Amino acid sequence: RRGVLADRFGRVATDLRVSLTDRCNLRCTYCMPEEGLAWMPREQQLTDDEVGRLIRIAVEGLGVTEVRFTGGEPLIRRGLLGIVSAAAALRPRPKLSVTTNGIGLERMAAPLRDAGLDRVNVSLDTLSPSRFEQLTHRDRHADVLKGLAGAAAAGLTPVKINTVLMRGINDDEAPALLRFALDHGYELRFIEQMPLDAQHQWDRHEMVTAEAILQSLEAYGLEPDPVSRGTAPAETWVVPGYVDAAGKPARVGVIGSVTRPFCGDCDRTRLTADGQVRNCLFATGESDLRGLLRGGASDDEVADAWRAAMWGKKPGHGIDDPKFLQPVRPMSAIGG
Ligand code: GTP
Ligand code: 5AD
Ligand code: SF4
Repeated sequence: RRGVLADRFGRVATDLRVSLTDRCNLRCTYCMPEEGLAWMPREQQLTDDEVGRLIRIAVEGLGVTEVRFTGGEPLIRRGLLGIVSAAAALRPRPKLSVTTNGIGLERMAAPLRDAGLDRVNVSLDTLSPSRFEQLTHRDRHADVLKGLAGAAAAGLTPVKINTVLMRGINDDEAPALLRFALDHGYELRFIEQMPLDAQHQWDRHEMVTAEAILQSLEAYGLEPDPVSRGTAPAETWVVPGYVDAAGKPARVGVIGSVTRPFCGDCDRTRLTADGQVRNCLFATGESDLRGLLRGGASDDEVADAWRAAMWGKKPGHGIDDPKFLQPVRPMSAIGG
């Protein structure tokens, strides 16, 4: 044991988010432009073995208990199944999950479960195939719905859905999206849009706030969730009259990163696909672990660098600060 990933504000990171690629097969308008971005050169990307080694150091040496794979789109990373198996073989075995856009999940769900994955979160912003194409610049709505069903059938549960609401674009769909999730036993979470898009077009006044989201769901008579939220970004409510796939009271979540920040309880550390530690989604600096790995550093040296990186974590994202600057790395290269 080489210590824990603590910061000077008393927070301890036990939840590792690993971005496996900055590439994606969709072009969500709030994330990246239609023409895509300048992708990370392959040689800069960590190899499967390098990713596996860093996860091992985090789990065996630094107290990480949960590993989330993100992207870009993590399902397009060729070595994904091997990376998941290697993580599942660690002791203590971490909880393993993926956040995906759902394309290809229908085919991948059972192999991922067999490799040791516990659950998935799938992004879905609309129930309309034509609107989906406007929002993502790809005609893949049906694949996402099949991916959701495949995940549930494979037992990657609870299957959670992430919905980013945008004013005048899909905010009219909130009640219908919730109905869809309830009917299928998925747990829906509405997300406030954050200033992390590559195009730098985020506008606070265009953002659909947690308060507005809850107002639009008034007809459901949501009740406060008796289960404590812990360190989760989502505030949850119970939806009276509905049960989830496991027969427990159905829930809906709101991730109000901007208007209801939860930075004080943050338990996350992030690794980019090119091996940089980010101590916050909104960090302006990073710490290079890939250079250490490739320079022949020992596990102890890597662990020390990781702990030093986390110690410097800011108290909060600072979006409300007049001097706030969006991180240089866009969402698709951080992994959300
Ligand atoms: P679970 O509830 O454990 O399944 O995970 P999650 O909701 O934290 O993760 P997911 O990858 O599904 O992300 C959902 C939304 O939360 C995305 O918009 C993420 O960008 C956002 N998110 C995840 N971690 C953080 C964080 O540390 N800070 C902020 N502000 N947002 C986060
Ligand atoms: N603000 C909030 N959430 C975002 N996501 C992507 N870009 C943003 C943004 N700018 C969501 C995706 C996915 C998750 C990883 O983050 O919809 O569900
Ligand atoms: Fe791809 Fe996710 Fe960005 Fe959409 S939000 S373009 S699915 S990385």
